[in-house]
Amino acid sequence: MIQFCDVCKKFGEQTVLDHVSLTVFDGQVLFIVGKSGAGKSVLVKHLIGLLQPDTGQIFFDGDEITHWKEKDFYPLRLKCAMVFQHSTLFDSMSLIENVALPLRKHRHLSHQESLKQALEKLALLGMESYADQLPAMIGDGMRKRVAIARALMLEPNYVIFDEPTTGLDPLSAEQVDQLIRRLSDELKVTSLVVSHDLRSIFTVSDRIVMLYEGKIHFDGTPEQFAACEDPVIYQFVRALPDGPMV
Ligand SMILES: Nc1ncnc2c1ncn2[C@@H]1O[C@H](COP(=O)(O)OP(=O)(O)O)[C@@H](O)[C@H]1O
Ligand SMILES: [Mg+2]
Repeated sequence: MIQFCDVCKKFGEQTVLDHVSLTVFDGQVLFIVGKSGAGKSVLVKHLIGLLQPDTGQIFFDGDEITHWKEKDFYPLRLKCAMVFQHSTLFDSMSLIENVALPLRKHRHLSHQESLKQALEKLALLGMESYADQLPAMIGDGMRKRVAIARALMLEPNYVIFDEPTTGLDPLSAEQVDQLIRRLSDELKVTSLVVSHDLRSIFTVSDRIVMLYEGKIHFDGTPEQFAACEDPVIYQFVRALPDGPMV
């Protein structure tokens, strides 16, 4: 379980998180929405130690991580993977070698066994037939799917997806959406998904949290979100089909 308790974060004079409290329950697919610059990425970066709060507390699986040092986060990052908006692959390595990399780094497996497991992860994303290609040979949507396969390699309990479908072709976007749903339903993975993608929000999420002016403006189910007459939410839902709000 993840808990943010009364977390505040400022950059200079700009308050980005203003007394944010949020509990994320295990196995949930929680979408974090809000317009560009609302603090979505800032919020999730606190979980893996890329940012630390000015005040408030953060708990991860019962440990208070608020003031952890960089090296304290190493083991946490093995069970909480983050897929960044612009994840990069190593250009000189085949897709399967890219995916196998975390195993080679953190587990003592034979080369053969690590490739076998990497192929299984590629198959989850519908990418197994491209295993031996180089990143430059495939499109952005496929590269993103490979980056997600790599993030899943150490079988994390938590996965943070920062805008996983932004800019993807429809097939890749749907594959990513289905995967997020299956990770929760079949493997009980807890996912935090930062997204602008209306279709993903309504087909994949169990719960939606909206950040607005540094605060949690909405916290509820997709049904409640769709039916909400609050003007900020109404405008957000209406504006999304035209692309990300700027
Ligand atoms: N490391 C940083 N230093 C200074 N300002 C930052 C930093 N990270 C984010 N910000 C600012 O915090 C605000 C929220 O950013 P972010 O969480 O990335 O927004 P989004 O909701 O689009 O993900 C933005 O105004 C951004 O410029
Ligand atoms: Mg962001």
